[in-house]
Amino acid sequence: MKTAVYPGTFDPVTYGHLDIIERASKLFDEVVIGVLNNCSKSPLFSVDERVNILKNVTKDIPNVRVEHFEGLSVDFARKCNANVIVRGLRLITDFEYELQMAQTNRKLAPEIDTTFLYTSLPFSYLSSTTVREVAAFGGNIDEFVPAYVAEQIHEKMGSK
Ligand code: COA
Repeated sequence: MKTAVYPGTFDPVTYGHLDIIERASKLFDEVVIGVLNNCSKSPLFSVDERVNILKNVTKDIPNVRVEHFEGLSVDFARKCNANVIVRGLRLITDFEYELQMAQTNRKLAPEIDTTFLYTSLPFSYLSSTTVREVAAFGGNIDEFVPAYVAEQIHEKMGSK
């Protein structure tokens, strides 16, 4: 069985992430989304909230499951018996950071490889920060995130 992990902060998950998740689910038998409990960022949503949101928006994809993790992505991949890490590339500016991360991960765990999927063009400009910012100032985020995610953001920000 070919298992891949897709690690990230997902604060919040956007249509860009979902594009990667849906396409990865067709390439691998199982995709485990790893939601990082990331101390270096101050997320809008707690790790449990991000996991629940991701579970809700991926509930129709049978070979996708969602877990949280702390520490290294490669250790999370090992725990899931995955030998592939999936990452999305939006613009060329993502490449340097992602390549550096992939090389580091390869050094740490030579048995685990990183696969990059390019983000589909309509979502290549999206970022979680942009979504949070637009929502904070009352802008419409319906084209950036699924309705359930938008609801959770508005509820959290008390803006609706
Ligand atoms: N579509 C839209 N946006 C995307 C995207 C896509 N396909 N892919 C990434 N993004 C955006 C996110 O919205 C996010 O935006 P933000 O910076 O405005 O919040 C940004 O790109 C990156 O987010 P995300 O994909 O959630 O990943 P991350 O950079 O927060 O986390 C980890 C990266 C978790 C993989 C990395 O930090 C990690 O592996 N950490 C564990 C520690 C470790 O193993 N370190 C060693 C490796 S160097």
